[in-house]
Amino acid sequence: MKFFIDTANLDQIREAQALGILDGVTTNPSLMAKEGITGEAKILKHYVDICDIVDGDVSAEVISTDYEGMIKEGEALAALHPQIVVKIPMIKDGVKACKYFSDKGIKTNVTLVFSAGQALLAAKAGATYMSPFVGRLDDISTDGLGLIAEIRLIYDNYGFDTQILAASVRNTMHIMNCAKIGSDVMTGPLSAIEGLLKHPLTDSGLAQFLKDYQKGN
Ligand code: E4P
Repeated sequence: MKFFIDTANLDQIREAQALGILDGVTTNPSLMAKEGITGEAKILKHYVDICDIVDGDVSAEVISTDYEGMIKEGEALAALHPQIVVKIPMIKDGVKACKYFSDKGIKTNVTLVFSAGQALLAAKAGATYMSPFVGRLDDISTDGLGLIAEIRLIYDNYGFDTQILAASVRNTMHIMNCAKIGSDVMTGPLSAIEGLLKHPLTDSGLAQFLKDYQKGN
């Protein structure tokens, strides 16, 4: 299972990279704005800065909603750095743009997926990654993890290569349930990733070991 961090915060990306378990980064315009990264030039530079920190794929989102605009923008993003994955919204022109990029061998991440039908279309269009938003479905009392399971079944039925990238992951239980279902990737905040580390028996066990070691010294 690949671990992506879902942020545009360079310090958090560095921290996750230093852990040695990071496989990539996802961003979106809201995450960029949260870090004060606004305006085309700053945003493009920020993508390159992120690529310079991590070894894996870095999703960079187009903001055009028409086919021609997405192609122009996506090609410019892909040319920025070999690690860039063009992130495209799940809309009609987005599906067409995804097919265009897959045919050209440019990696894609189809985002804002909220149904199995949308996931099927993304796979048919040759998406590299397809991002169902687990947390946002949970927010509206809909089973986000149930959607991941449904998509896993459909993709396995036909052997689609598209990787399920569970997005809008908010906590450790989301990560663990995605792992049980067989999501290929999850993207979440550093807090959720670091939450996996914690167990009170680890802390008390370590404290006891260190105390006992001191007895002989
Ligand atoms: C996906 O790539 C999005 O950036 C992200 O996971 C959305 O998460 P949110 O619902 O916490 O904003």
